[in-house]
Amino acid sequence: MVTANPARLTTLRQTSNARVDATLAALFDSHRAVDPRLEAAMRHGLLVGGKRLRPLLVYLSGQALGADNEALDAPAAAIELIHAYSLIHDDLPAMDDDDLRRGQPTVHKAFDEATAILAGDALQALAFEVLARRPHPRLGSMVTTLAVASGREGMVAGQALDLAAVGGHPDVDALAHMHSHKTGALIVAAVRLGGLAAVEEQDPRLSALIRYARAIGLAFQIHDDVLDVTGDTATLGKASGADAARAKPTYPSLLGLAGAQRKAQALIDEAIAALAPLGERAAPLADLAHYMIERDH
Ligand code: IPE
Ligand code: IPE
Ligand code: MG
Ligand code: MG
Ligand code: MG
Repeated sequence: MVTANPARLTTLRQTSNARVDATLAALFDSHRAVDPRLEAAMRHGLLVGGKRLRPLLVYLSGQALGADNEALDAPAAAIELIHAYSLIHDDLPAMDDDDLRRGQPTVHKAFDEATAILAGDALQALAFEVLARRPHPRLGSMVTTLAVASGREGMVAGQALDLAAVGGHPDVDALAHMHSHKTGALIVAAVRLGGLAAVEEQDPRLSALIRYARAIGLAFQIHDDVLDVTGDTATLGKASGADAARAKPTYPSLLGLAGAQRKAQALIDEAIAALAPLGERAAPLADLAHYMIERDH
């Protein structure tokens, strides 16, 4: 079992965030805007705030299997672009109807609804552009990974299940199914993209990474549900108590706060156990697993 080291994670996170932020900023700086208002809305949803945990997962997973950072920059940027688009749409009045995100007004509040929809659309397209422009021997598998995780078998399906569940009482399996799609799918994709930058699809270490990712992906959304109950709006950078206000079924609403926290911890233990075949090189991924459910925002 690898030893946890939060200081190591802080350093790795700073490097990862600097790399992905540089890649994302360059997308705007290198390009003359056709519609400056659309570009401003895209920047607002993408560049300000955000923990950048999915890019970090790309870098740490790739590094654990020996990939160079240069091969990880495009997939790291691509997954954050999809994530940012998903948040802009998640906040729309037709979905969660939230006014605050990453400590600032949501895109439809700062701009308008139509611009928020279009900014999300354009960020999604840009994700695939960024990935497709960078040559890689397994580029086809990477694009497929991102597409499947984003769409009707992944995040978008999860969001549809989430909206259908409002006011309902799904059992814990149905909730896990929903969470694994709306949030888990992009987290698994981040890890898979990092892994594919280093090794072939069939490499057993990739399967170990994916077992790790499934467990942290579910734990991450359980902890998001927990923070909605225990966190405060200023720290979260988004409204606390929003799930209960909207009758969203969540892990705390189903299992109680302590039950939800126990479930998240069990998943983190499972995730760290899955890393065993990767050895000491995967230690930062174990640190990140702990962070997933210890974070305060
Ligand atoms: C929030 O994700 C939405 C969920 C999937 C729970 P994050 O907590 O990673 O949000 P940012 O990117 O840091 O804003
Ligand atoms: C968001 O889940 C999942 C996606 C954006 C795909 P939530 O609706 O719980 O995320 P927050 O709490 O608004 O960040
Ligand atoms: Mg939502
Ligand atoms: Mg939401
Ligand atoms: Mg939430």
